[in-house]
Amino acid sequence: MPNHVLILAAGQGTRMRSSRPKVLHRIAGLPLIEHVLRTASTLSPASTAVVVGHLANQVREELAHHASLGFAHQTEQRGTGHALLQAEPLLGRQRGSLVVLSGDVPLIRPATLQRLIKTHERTNAAVTVLTATLVRPYGYGRIVRKDGRLSRIVEERDASEGQRQLKEINGGIYAFDLAPLFGALREIPATGAVNEIYLPGLVTIYRRRGLPVETVEVDNPDEVRGINSQTELAEVRRIVRQSKNEELMAAGVTIEDPATTYVDTDVTVGPDTVIHPGVILEGRTIIGSRCELHAGVRIVDSTVGDDVLVNNHCVIHRATIAHGARVGPFAHLRPDTQVGEAARVGNFVELKKTSLGDGSKANHLSYLGDATIGTGVNVGAGTITCNYDGDEKHRTTIGDRVFVGSGTELVAPVTVGDDAYVAAGSCITDDVPADALGVARGRQVNKEGWVTQRKQGHDTGPSDL
Ligand code: UD1
Ligand code: CA
Repeated sequence: MPNHVLILAAGQGTRMRSSRPKVLHRIAGLPLIEHVLRTASTLSPASTAVVVGHLANQVREELAHHASLGFAHQTEQRGTGHALLQAEPLLGRQRGSLVVLSGDVPLIRPATLQRLIKTHERTNAAVTVLTATLVRPYGYGRIVRKDGRLSRIVEERDASEGQRQLKEINGGIYAFDLAPLFGALREIPATGAVNEIYLPGLVTIYRRRGLPVETVEVDNPDEVRGINSQTELAEVRRIVRQSKNEELMAAGVTIEDPATTYVDTDVTVGPDTVIHPGVILEGRTIIGSRCELHAGVRIVDSTVGDDVLVNNHCVIHRATIAHGARVGPFAHLRPDTQVGEAARVGNFVELKKTSLGDGSKANHLSYLGDATIGTGVNVGAGTITCNYDGDEKHRTTIGDRVFVGSGTELVAPVTVGDDAYVAAGSCITDDVPADALGVARGRQVNKEGWVTQRKQGHDTGPSDL
């Protein structure tokens, strides 16, 4: 029998006190709902759909890259049962089982869902509820059992004092037999302190009808942690972070202080790379083998080759760093930057839309923007590409083996040919041909005895200062 998947994501998430839809809050670089969708996809379901409602357009936009994802719309947020009912146009004619997931329960593992489906199919249940036993069950719906079997689920806010003591909770994840589902959903009365149509109310209806109702308990209660508040979001983040770090360490990465190492889900790191405390690796970053990332480095959507040293406190965003290069401390690599093999980018150097060729060096205090720099180039301290004329950006092109003296301004568009020299302190406004020396600075004048004359009260003239 085919499995279908539906994810509930229409709720307001009031308790987050945020203008962003709850399921779009991010953990390890991905929206909550993306974590859930990825896990769902491991089931290879016949169809996957999401119920959207509150700020639906934002949620749909964020999920636009999922080609075959279906959407159901819940105009008014009248509870989880009502949300599921909105999927009837998509699923009403289907048969088989439907796995319902919550957009705010992101830690659920594929193996657990498989176990849920297996039990569900083996027992021919009308519904199988995923449960967990928590030390602190506060906030969750409680599993009420009669003669050991699930009899009903009671929400925290509607629970009696005695029911609140129950430690077994509803994980908010279910497998349903599609055949009786939508008919029965319509029978759930609006109940509870907030007059909503609770999906767990279906259990009561099925029990009354004598339909088989089953439960599967998770091994690790963390898997069903729901996110209703910023505090819970932070707690789940910590769990995700820890497991990503463990995955990297198992693959041979040295992490000096996992508690302060933040690595997004999609980041990869090669073996024997050493990550010092306070490193943040975001997005689709790829780090090679045997690299060293020193404290306070943040790398976003970038590719770093093997044997690269990134010294303390660098920010690297959408850049590529080739094998054997050294960057930092305090370097800023901005989007569309390429640092060549064994190249050096030193302290207080900013690169933007710039390629620095193999073996080239820009070691101190420079801004290189919109520049193509060849191989074996030495960019002296304090070099600035003047790439912006107030209206447009212009490119600077520097050939191979060029020596750019310290304190040079390169007023783009400008080209410096292969092997050329640029004298320190030059303001280069015209191209420098290959093999030439370009000098563009005022000549120095020394006035002998000037200091003594001034001390003796002679008029040395203000213009000489
Ligand atoms: C729900 C369960 C509770 C369970 C807990 C597990 C109900 C009534 N309660 O409580 O038994 O222990 O999850 O995490 O189901 N949603 C909609 N439309 C709505 C309301 C909610 O799509 O009208 C979506 C939300 O976006 C969310 C999910 O359903 O993804 C769960 O809703 P939420 O309000 O967080 O339910 P809980 O109070 O956590
Ligand atoms: Ca919830």
